[in-house]
Amino acid sequence: MSVQKVMVIGAGQMGSGIAQVFAQSGYDVILNDLKAEFVERGLGVITKNLTRQVDKGRMTEDEKNAVLSKLTPSTTLEDAKQVDLVVEAAVENMAIKTDIFKKLDEFAPEHAILASNTSSLPITEIAAATKRPEKVIGMHFMNPVPVMKLVEIIRGLATKDEVYQTIEDITKTLQKVPVEVNDFPGFVSNRVLMPMINEAIYTLYEGVATKEAIDEVMKLGMNHPMGPLTLADFIGLDTCLYIMETLHEGFGDDKYRPCPLLRKYVKAGWLGKKTGRGFYTYEQ
Ligand code: CAA
Repeated sequence: MSVQKVMVIGAGQMGSGIAQVFAQSGYDVILNDLKAEFVERGLGVITKNLTRQVDKGRMTEDEKNAVLSKLTPSTTLEDAKQVDLVVEAAVENMAIKTDIFKKLDEFAPEHAILASNTSSLPITEIAAATKRPEKVIGMHFMNPVPVMKLVEIIRGLATKDEVYQTIEDITKTLQKVPVEVNDFPGFVSNRVLMPMINEAIYTLYEGVATKEAIDEVMKLGMNHPMGPLTLADFIGLDTCLYIMETLHEGFGDDKYRPCPLLRKYVKAGWLGKKTGRGFYTYEQ
């Protein structure tokens, strides 16, 4: 199946990155969010990223403008009627996602594939909100999207082989590496990553070491590019908590219980880098 027009839903950290890589690979992209100001903010981040590429001599000003011209802002899901593929990157909330997918099912053409960038929610359940579960799939990008090579591709129970193949082929055109996984809570990436981050938070909570020491151990001892507490701030503590809750509920196993300190920070609104405070403080 030929895919040329793509709609990305959610212009936040992940959605703007996804829109950028599609536009840079020559796709026509509709970037959608609830309000025009959210879309503008996302486009601003993309412009900043591309300008950095120009400054580094990796892209010309003309090339940058060509990429930007591929992006069309949108605040209505009805714009899905123009596209071959939708990648949803809205907040991690099942009720919101199923509502979006119901509407997309109504507006998107019959041939269109509906993908979700969910980091842990069941693709099969999202697909069940539509009348085309065979065309629903997980396409999980990593943050920061323009830099990270992996796309975890998740098959729902009903996802057709040809839909999987199309998404795998598209992923390669984005200069990313597709990895196929099945639909279980957290898939592979967050099933492995989040319990490690949660355990790092427990070591802080129990006073085993300072936050700096915990991060240093994992950076210097395990060669991780960022310590787990810095990474949690970077991902967003609300997202980390949501994923831990999805694992806890999905497997019914207490080994996935979220650390109380993580809950406390989220309740305080200390969500990490995006709010200026998490385990560390950041200049806004
Ligand atoms: N957007 C675009 N480009 C970015 C960026 C961003 N937000 N942040 C950094 N970059 C680029 C920089 O411009 C730089 O590019 P060049 O090499 O081309 O000059 C490059 O990335 C390296 O950046 P820095 O030198 O500033 O810093 P660094 O070497 O520490 O790398 C990093 C930054 C890539 C973020 C690195 O620290 C890293 O890999 N961290 C771990 C990231 C990670 O684990 N991501 C997965 C999170 S989990 C997830 O996403 C899934 C989920 O469901 C929660």
